[in-house]
Amino acid sequence: MEFLLNEEHRMIRDTVREFAQKEIAPVAAHYDETGEFPMPVIKKMGELGLMGIEVPEEYGGAGLDTLSYVLAMEEVAKADVAVSTIMSVNNSLYCHGILTFGTEEQKQKYLAPVASGQAVAAYALTEPQSGSDAANMKTRAVLSDDGTHYIINGRKSWITSGPVADYFILFAMTEPEKRHRGITAFIVEGDTPGLIRGKVEPKLGIRASATCELFFEDMKVPVENVLGEPGQGFKIAMAILDAGRIGIAAQALGVAEAALDASINWAREREAFGHKIGEFEGIQWKIADMKTRIEASRGLIYSAAMAKERAKKTGERYTLQASMAKLFASETAMFCTHQAVQIHGGMGYSKELPVERYFRDAKITEIYEGTSEIQRLVIARQVLGLRGSF
Ligand code: CAA
Repeated sequence: MEFLLNEEHRMIRDTVREFAQKEIAPVAAHYDETGEFPMPVIKKMGELGLMGIEVPEEYGGAGLDTLSYVLAMEEVAKADVAVSTIMSVNNSLYCHGILTFGTEEQKQKYLAPVASGQAVAAYALTEPQSGSDAANMKTRAVLSDDGTHYIINGRKSWITSGPVADYFILFAMTEPEKRHRGITAFIVEGDTPGLIRGKVEPKLGIRASATCELFFEDMKVPVENVLGEPGQGFKIAMAILDAGRIGIAAQALGVAEAALDASINWAREREAFGHKIGEFEGIQWKIADMKTRIEASRGLIYSAAMAKERAKKTGERYTLQASMAKLFASETAMFCTHQAVQIHGGMGYSKELPVERYFRDAKITEIYEGTSEIQRLVIARQVLGLRGSF
């Protein structure tokens, strides 16, 4: 797929690779073990322009294209998936949402702090009873009598970067009788009274990416902070996830490649029965399958990135391309990290090497921003031309 990259893309990839290997990879095990939020790393990434890659420079971003974004995401994830998760939420779920649906005033006010890496953002959609069934939300937003603000009550769960976020895109029901057509999106500042952050979730992987519950108790949000039109929130949520899923696919590709690189090195060095283990067919077949699935993932991801780039001019949806890339790349990440542990044997199970972390971190890519089952449902509906049936 190298032929799809121009000189600038290659330069971006090489620069981010060097940065990620020098500044992120050496501290990844520390943040995984302690579960601390890697704020110093995030600040450095902000300085390099990695927190608002596609945001125009006038709003504090790097002004690059979607292919640049996926190349950067892949390199960061190769070094640390948790850090790439924080990067993905800032770039795709927050900046992309405000760029696409925000007013000029909202862009001026709310993009620069996040795109420049000075602030962290989160996307609050999921609730305890609504993961895959995202429209089934109970959080309520009621317009005040004087029409100046909404009063929001409810609860969100599994909010990535929730414990530290300075800004949120939040979805709440404004007209429950209209179901998904009664949902509205809001931009919420992190210090808004009535916004309460709950317990931080202990997790299997991406432990440095902080995740928590949020509670809203009579939280007032001004009407100017409605993102898009009232009642359009569900479509906004889904459209933002189309962008997000391309980032998660690139993240999955990065960790799959990290697992492959480690396996190649191990297969070249480790000896058994008087041979390097890479000389055994059993290991060769694993390496061959890993490499093939990685390159197939890359093809789907670049294709989705190019579809998203085209959409900036045409407004077309790229739902199908995004879901196919996410589905295939996340299952590839799980496959490759699983094979890498097996190739490394006991050392793959040991915390002395990063392979066990890759395995734990890869799993989330099959779950968040829509499980593999949801991606299959979205793909099938797109291919068959079916409308939602729920
Ligand atoms: N773009 C724009 N509009 C879209 C859309 C998209 N990608 N997908 C659906 N819509 C529109 C439909 O056209 C439909 O419009 P109308 O009202 O005009 O008919 C409307 O939205 C409802 O669509 P469906 O009927 O398809 O809705 P559904 O309820 O049957 O199913 C779903 C939708 C695909 C299952 C969806 O709920 C979904 O994707 N669920 C998974 C949710 C998810 O990914 N959650 C992740 C949480 S965020 C996260 O993980 C972040 C993090 O931590 C990093």
